[in-house]
Parts: sequence; structure tokens; C-alpha cells
Amino acid sequence: STRIYAEPFRPQFHFSPEKKWMNDPNGLVFYKGIYHLFYQYYPEDIVWGPMHWGHATSTDLIHWKHHKIALFPDKLGYIFSGSVVIDVNNSSGLGTLKNPAMVAIFTYHNMDSEKAGKINTQSQALAYSLDEGETWSKYQGNPIIANLGLKDFRDPNVFWNTETNTWNLLLVAGDYAQVYTSENLINWKLESEFGKGIGAHGGVWECPNLFKIKVENSNEEKWVLLISVNPGAPNGGSGTQYFVGDFDGKNFKTNQKDTKWLDNGADNYAGITYNDAPENKRIFIGWMSNWLYARNTPTKNWRSAMTLPREILLSKINNNYILKNAPVSQLKLQFEHHFSKDLIVLKPKQKTTLNYDNLNQSQIQFRADAKNLKLVFSNDVNDTLVLNYDGKQKTFSIDRRHSGIVNFEPSFGKSIHTTATPNIISETIDYQIILDWSSIEIFLNGGVYSFTEQIFPEKPYTKLTIQSDENQEIKNISIYKIKGIW
Ligand code: FRU
Repeated sequence: STRIYAEPFRPQFHFSPEKKWMNDPNGLVFYKGIYHLFYQYYPEDIVWGPMHWGHATSTDLIHWKHHKIALFPDKLGYIFSGSVVIDVNNSSGLGTLKNPAMVAIFTYHNMDSEKAGKINTQSQALAYSLDEGETWSKYQGNPIIANLGLKDFRDPNVFWNTETNTWNLLLVAGDYAQVYTSENLINWKLESEFGKGIGAHGGVWECPNLFKIKVENSNEEKWVLLISVNPGAPNGGSGTQYFVGDFDGKNFKTNQKDTKWLDNGADNYAGITYNDAPENKRIFIGWMSNWLYARNTPTKNWRSAMTLPREILLSKINNNYILKNAPVSQLKLQFEHHFSKDLIVLKPKQKTTLNYDNLNQSQIQFRADAKNLKLVFSNDVNDTLVLNYDGKQKTFSIDRRHSGIVNFEPSFGKSIHTTATPNIISETIDYQIILDWSSIEIFLNGGVYSFTEQIFPEKPYTKLTIQSDENQEIKNISIYKIKGIW
């Protein structure tokens, strides 16, 4: 098969399928030096359809190798989202101690029963691989968790709990989560439920992910639960909220009162983290789209990409737990230095314009005062993308209404997306901005605030205009060209 990575809008250093439709990342697991990425995949069309699991691997999370399809739909249903674990103790008996099984636990979505008018069309099932994910066998006794009457019952998140020495599984049931335990990955016991009366419930809950993480610069440990919700996100449609709390292997509890969002842009959904990543790191990958318009974006041959792999850290700021996320450090190796300047002093209303041959393949980094700042990306066909930090309101916004092609779906370019930045409490702000043809990812203060969106400029942006209506200082600005990797 040929890779055509020169197509309009095709990202060059973000994961995208060679061709056809992709949605959620699935089964993220690190094993024997290799990062596996499975994903919701429909190999026949560039819109959602009978779901498969696609498969790719990487040793650095930046360069990906495409593998053959891992899981195909069968008479029990489409293969929806789920997890992969390595059964090192051979608790399931499906492998051996010498060659442990790679175990996928996923949701079957049964179209036949849906067409027959049944409600409980989703159940949890198991498949395993004895050759590191190349070929898979479905477990004979599927489903392993039957559905007792719920409409939405899916997206199992499985991990080995090192505190209780048992397997845990979380899934979503409508707009709350269920917690299960198992000794063997096959027989699961429902222990508790979480989520009624807490968090955002504007839509159905999807793709739970529970993990333990240390609070930065302390010995405190907390458990974090990611929950995707669709619709009901701050910018409309799909978004990912999180809860910080404690987990005893059976119950997840939190004192959190407010709703917290992992990312503030419109296009970071269904993200999960790696099982067994090296050095105890929490590495996150999200699907860079939104169900509002995912099926309509103006690409041909393929549709949609993943976010950059990001390291997640938990910080305590003003006694408030904040989940930070910023690109993995490996990305730096793809940078080629292009431009830098120690200081740009901006007087009110005065503009500085930087010209560059292709800002859609770049990283821009600088530090500015935590005051008003406006950045405008533009090209010679009048596409403009406007980023704005409002130091008085403490909000950040993106205006992509005129950023390029926006009319493929009414909700895409409809409004300016603005969210509060309550955790920016420093006098200066570090900006890290990364563009890869059809996406922009913005990280403030090392990921205390992140913002991810798709854009479809007709030509690459070649100008960056920086301005403020206050006295501003831009320090240590650098622009890096990011090399394509395919
Ligand atoms: C999230 C989701 C999951 C489901 C999958 C189906 O985007 O709706 O809940 O398993 O996509 O493709």
C-alpha cells in the first residue's frame, strides 16, 4: 500500500490512518519496548461504520508503523472501544508465563439486536494475542460481561491494580461509571458505581480511564478518572472531563465540586493513557475531533488524526488539583531551529509581524507578560486564525471562524471559543503552540492549560502578527520547523 502523505490537510507528525475513517484511541499499552496504538477504524469509508480495531506501533511515540487490522467485527457485533493489558502472571490461562497473552477487552455493539429494537445491544468481550498484537483470537466464552438492560454500556478500561493485586475494570453505563474487579480477566464482579450527581452530564459518558498519579513536588498520590462526555463540552459537542480522588480498588471517591476539563479546545476527545509506560509515566493520546462535525471535515482518503502524545502530570495550584498535559519530550528531536529573538517590546496597539514560509508545520515558543495578547495567523488568501489571551478576564480564546474552510458543517466555525484560565496565576505565561497542517495545539505554562483544535486553511499560514493593547514583552521567542516523519 502506498502512503500519500502529501494530501491537503494531512498531518505530518501526528498519527493518522493511512486511509479511511478513524476515531478513538484504544488499547494503549507499552510492551517490550514498543508503544502499541489500537484505534476505532472503519476500513471501507471515510465516515464511521462497522468498527474494527486498527493497529500501529512506535518506539518513540512520534514515528509510527502501521500494522494490519487487529480486530474485525463478527456476529456478536462491531468492535467498540476498550483496553489492552499484558497478563504477565497468566491469570487468564490464555498464554503462558513465558509468553504472556496480550489481552484486549472491548465492547461488542450488536447491530442485529439494535435493528430488532433491543436496548441492551452492548456487552464486554475479550480477545487475546500470543504474538505481541499481530494476530488475535476471540475468547470462546464471549461476552464476558453481559448487558442486563442498559442502552449505553461500554468502553472498558482495564488495568492491574498494584495496591490490591487484582485486575480492575471501569466502564460507562449511560452517564455514570461502574467499577469491577477480577482475578482472571474473564470473570468480573461489579463493585460500585460512580458519577451520579457529580460532573458534567450534558450527554452520555464514554471512555473512562482511571489511574494513580503522584502530585508534582510532593509524595502525595491521587487517583484520576478521565471521562469523555458527548455532548455537553464547553465548546459544544464532545469533551473530556476529569475527577481527582481516591480509589481503594472497589470505590472511587472525590471531594471535587467543580467540573474540570482536560483540554479547553473543541477537538480532543475519547483520550486515554498508556498501561505500563516506562518510568511510571502517564502518557495520553486523544482523538483530535468532535462528534459535532467529525464525519464532515474536508479531507479525502482518510479522516482525522490523534493528538500529539502528551505526558500527564498532576499539580496542586492554590490547593486545587490540576491535571497538566503537554507534548512528550521526544517531539523536540523533530525540531529544526528556524528563528529566535530574545526580546520583542510591544507598545499598545503596535504590531510585530513575523514572516515564515509555512507556519502550519511549526512550533512557536515564548514567554509573555500575563496581560492581553493577541496572535493572528494569516496567509495571502485571507484566512485568519486569532488567538487571544485576556489578562483582565483571565480567559483564552480561539477564533477559527475565518481560519480557512469552515462551511462543511454549521457548528465548526460558528463562534469564538472562549474558556476561563483560573489556574494561570503567574506574572508571565509560557506559550507553546504547535501546528501540523490541520491542527493547532496550545499549551500555557507547561500544560496547566491546553487547547486543541482542527483548522483547514486553504494555504499554509505565512504570517504571525503579535499585538497587545497594553505594554507587553515577548521574551525568548523561537520558531521551529517540525520535520515530517513519514
Ligand atoms: C467515543 C465512542 C465510544 C465507542 C466508540 C464507537 O467516541 O462513541 O463510546 O466505543 O466511539 O466507535
